[in-house]
Amino acid sequence: MEIKILVLYYSMYGNVFQMAQQVAAGIKQVQGAQPVLRKVPELIPESIIQKKPDIVRAQQLQKDVPVATLDDLKECDGLLIGTPTRFGNMCSQMRNFLDQTGSLWLQGALIGKPAGIFTSSVSLHGGQESTCLSTMLTLLHHGMIIVGIPSSTQELMKTSTGGTPYGASHVVGMQENFKPLSEEEKSLCIFLGKRVAEVAKKLKCNC
Ligand SMILES: Cc1cc2nc3c(=O)[nH]c(=O)nc-3n(C[C@H](O)[C@H](O)[C@H](O)COP(=O)(O)O)c2cc1C
Repeated sequence: MEIKILVLYYSMYGNVFQMAQQVAAGIKQVQGAQPVLRKVPELIPESIIQKKPDIVRAQQLQKDVPVATLDDLKECDGLLIGTPTRFGNMCSQMRNFLDQTGSLWLQGALIGKPAGIFTSSVSLHGGQESTCLSTMLTLLHHGMIIVGIPSSTQELMKTSTGGTPYGASHVVGMQENFKPLSEEEKSLCIFLGKRVAEVAKKLKCNC
């Protein structure tokens, strides 16, 4: 059985993008599951982006990722949402996209589909958990089934940086705008992608 898992994300400096790639790798571990990687539309004016080399570099890395449409949401069997933490919440680019899903809500298009969340923040206590939890509100309004990370996952208990029961996460730190994932953070992204795909498969084949 073929299932499509949408990995819907926004990434200004590339941190959430590298997480999205690991989440997609986790989805691929489930037989018949196909990751569909999509970025939400940018809202920052091009004139500002061009003055920021770190953003230009990150956009270049993501140039081949298609921009999401509402049909991507409608057609998926499961969803993973990735957003930078912004003042303890999702970024405006993701909020803007999700605020265009009223028609899908009316149709009940997402009801019963599983969903997980991943986020990246500068500091360890900078609001990763509140970002995951507050993103869940929108998903619950859509009738989605929330998938988290259970404490039986070894990396969740070992990590000294990112990783929460509410979703996968990454801590960038203050030094630079971009930092590669730690081994634990990487494993937790893979785990979450795989888990959402497994749940979606079970729900779809009703077994
Ligand atoms: C407007 C704004 C608000 C932010 N708020 C937070 C915050 O509340 N906590 C935190 O730790 N980092 C915060 N950050 C840092 C981002 O979370 C960090 O840059 C992000 O992880 C980068 O992800 P990306 O590389 O995918 O864009 C903020 C950044 C911006 C631009």
